Amino acid sequence: MNQIQTDKNCFQPGDLALLIDRKARRYMITLAEGETYHCHLGRLSHDDMIGGSVGGWYRTDKSHILLAVRPSLGDFVRQMPRGPQIIYPKDLGNIVNFADIFPGATVVEGGLGSGALTSALLRAVGNTGKVITYEIDEAVLPKAMRNIERIIPDTSNLEVKVSDIYQGIDEQGVDRVVLDVPEPWQAVPGIGDVLVMGGIMLSFVPTILQVQRLVLALGEDGRFQMIESLETLLRTWHVTERSVRPDHRMIAHSGFLTTAVRCEPKPTGRAQKDGRPPEADLAEDPPEESEEAADDRRDE
Ligand SMILES: C[S@@+](CC[C@H](N)C(=O)[O-])C[C@H]1O[C@@H](n2cnc3c(N)ncnc32)[C@H](O)[C@@H]1O
Repeated sequence: MNQIQTDKNCFQPGDLALLIDRKARRYMITLAEGETYHCHLGRLSHDDMIGGSVGGWYRTDKSHILLAVRPSLGDFVRQMPRGPQIIYPKDLGNIVNFADIFPGATVVEGGLGSGALTSALLRAVGNTGKVITYEIDEAVLPKAMRNIERIIPDTSNLEVKVSDIYQGIDEQGVDRVVLDVPEPWQAVPGIGDVLVMGGIMLSFVPTILQVQRLVLALGEDGRFQMIESLETLLRTWHVTERSVRPDHRMIAHSGFLTTAVRCEPKPTGRAQKDGRPPEADLAEDPPEESEEAADDRRDE
């Protein structure tokens, strides 16, 4: 029998394992001593895997072999039990990137849902940061917390508030606000009150009409600049010796991200006596640097 090894190359009791069969179908399990995993390919004893290699191949009692790895956050999110619609892995990465979530940040989230985005935020802020999530529907909490606790070992820096984020945010000096709620424009005044100067708000919404309404609300508020919207189209490829082409299936649409930076309101200046616009608006822009000149300057 294998001696149980404790290094991170080996599975331990309580670890998540992602099993992959020869048709690339994926099954996620949590390893526990004495348990058996059953599927149409047969039975696999968890004890055979505990102490065994991550990235190793394991044989069921029907002689099918399964590859076993640790699930990434994206793998986990795809497999985890869902309540409300989750944010897909393709968007999670861009949310963390475009909201510039950094280790140590204080992040307020709107809409805990199934906990997929919360998990990504917790990972990105690390042990020194904090995530405070506002969720209006208390019923989603148990499943969301079970999901988060399976993938994030320490959730002591997560605070869940059963509260309507449209009514305002209690925290002050917030670095980032990330929303996945249906009417984010209702949260804009509250976000403007609590974000640090230079802090970023990001909202995920599924329709472009919601994007437009949010962008208009951010502009009208006056405390946000650099308002930008985007969507992520991710296409995977099938690559073999005989054929190289995009995969037939892709997630064609999930939603749009809108980001905005908390800034001072733009100075309006006073109109000049003759009724012309403020001087600042009349100043001529310096000539733009050509791309070649910019490249030369970078090379110097
Ligand atoms: C689409 S789900 C969020 C899914 C989540 N981002 C995930 O990845 O699992 C939207 C959630 O926002 C919550 N919600 C809706 N309006 C809200 C509000 N005004 N304040 C706080 N939560 C709200 C809903 O109850 C729901 O759980």
